[in-house]
Amino acid sequence: MEVVILPDRATAGQLVGGTIAELVGKRPEAVLGLATGSTPLVVYRDLARRHAAGELSLGRAQAFLLDEYIGLPTGDPEAYRAFIARELEAHVDFAPGAVRGPDVRAGDLVSACDDYERALRAAGGVDLQLLGIGTDGHIGFNEPGSSLASRTRIKTLTAQTRRDNARFFDDDVERVPWHVVTQGIGTILEARHLVLLAFGPEKAAAAALAVEGPVTAMVPASALQLHPHATVVVDEEAASALHLADYYRETWSHKPDWQAL
Ligand code: PGA
Repeated sequence: MEVVILPDRATAGQLVGGTIAELVGKRPEAVLGLATGSTPLVVYRDLARRHAAGELSLGRAQAFLLDEYIGLPTGDPEAYRAFIARELEAHVDFAPGAVRGPDVRAGDLVSACDDYERALRAAGGVDLQLLGIGTDGHIGFNEPGSSLASRTRIKTLTAQTRRDNARFFDDDVERVPWHVVTQGIGTILEARHLVLLAFGPEKAAAAALAVEGPVTAMVPASALQLHPHATVVVDEEAASALHLADYYRETWSHKPDWQAL
């Protein structure tokens, strides 16, 4: 695992945006795994800027969302499919139908989860998966206790996650859905490169447990330790509880020019 400590989230957005641009430059039909929430916005802003500057086309790329709320009213702007349409698709050139999320309106949700797994496989798997981390250590919406081998399925959110996400729903926790569909941890681990972003002091404890704690279903993000190509990008605040922070800084400052993220 590579841990990169950067001064601020804008710098992190440029670094990860640059990595995605490089991937798509080499492999225009790349499959991207998209995260939602506030954390990946800096990456999406960077991709939009690169597209506007003529440096990046996603016209042949595909993308899959990590997760989606169940039960939001049709057209709710906080649905993750709507979030990605607004924050990313509107600013780049994905082909129609190239961005997909779990079908949470299907009559048979269990089959819809299996369909999503099949669609991921049919696309050849995810090349680069963006991830945020919950204050409770979740990735996607895999809450503590999620099997490290889990696949796309229905989950119930913890009270902590519902409180954390109330800020997207006018601070009204009652409006935050109880249920979601999320890629499983086993699904996420099949992506070829995992890039987890964490910013701000409220993420420091979860980031430290994920990177330096034991691998445990109680901290779903600790499953990244099992992946052969995982990158964790944090700002100074989110890095504040890392025991090996100085080592990560030294590693980054001595990283050979030829070595990509
Ligand atoms: P956030 O959420 O980016 O809005 O902090 C992260 C997550 O829950 O994965």
